Amino acid sequence: MRVIKSPEHLSEALSRFRKRGKQVGFVPTMGYLHEGHLFLVRRARKENDIVVVSIFVNPTQFGPHEDFKRYPRDLKRDRKLLRRDHVDYLFLPSRSSIYPKYFNDVVDPGPLARYLCGPKRPGHFRGVATVVKRLFRIVHPDRAYFGEKDYQQSRMIEALVQRFRMPIKVRTCPIVREKDGLAMSSRNRYLSRRERISARSLYQSLLQAKKLIRAGERDVSVIKKMARSVLLPYLSKIDYIELVDPDQLTPLRKVQSRVLIAIACYVGSTRLIDNILVKV
Ligand code: PAJ
Repeated sequence: MRVIKSPEHLSEALSRFRKRGKQVGFVPTMGYLHEGHLFLVRRARKENDIVVVSIFVNPTQFGPHEDFKRYPRDLKRDRKLLRRDHVDYLFLPSRSSIYPKYFNDVVDPGPLARYLCGPKRPGHFRGVATVVKRLFRIVHPDRAYFGEKDYQQSRMIEALVQRFRMPIKVRTCPIVREKDGLAMSSRNRYLSRRERISARSLYQSLLQAKKLIRAGERDVSVIKKMARSVLLPYLSKIDYIELVDPDQLTPLRKVQSRVLIAIACYVGSTRLIDNILVKV
């Protein structure tokens, strides 16, 4: 595995492969890797000749009171895991190489950012869209891999690729969970032991909501109320529980043939998200 810091060097190395008809798969991350990330890496490994993973804790997607400074980092361990999964290039750009002094390509994340986490984290999706477009321009992947854990992010990037007519296939992979159902996340490491137990309630609440739908309930307000009642005893704050159209992310009043149930909430001071797609 080659570790490259300079965007120019990476572009150069990859263009040589592209000229020889090799397919490039790309997994952008913020590091502190877990099995969720590695699922994407392995899928990329299967489907491409060259696999590139980036680790960049992107400052522009964090709000002023969010956890940018204390976001967990363990580069040594990350390198080891990526090497073990036969990654070809680890891209570790500096802040100034992603955002040079006169950088002005700030990307509008589009209408999908209006819903769910958008209003709760102003500027977040603009930061994600901006960094992902910048990374895509450097790597020019044939395929890029994202997790359903961040469903809205994935949808937004699919839309972005269409909007800018980028010749990239966006692959969205299923959520990898801990044994008790908690979706894996780098932020889980913030949880104390008691909070870690409380955090199970997110997936429990999604499963209960799914069960209610499967039992025939179609009234979204009834389903939300039940999901809330499962969460409340465990959480310090619920940002939202929403049932939305899985493509447009617009809120629903009645359950339709496909529905995304999405939750964002705080366990102690840690914000967690999770979701489940239900087909009826
Ligand atoms: P990060 O949180 O490091 O996640 C990198 C990728 O891993 C994302 O596509 C995310 O959805 C996926 N992922 C995280 N946890 C997962 C899980 N439990 N199961 C499956 N996939 C999972 O998302 C970001 O970084 C950033 O916003 C980024 C896209 C890199 C832009 O800065």
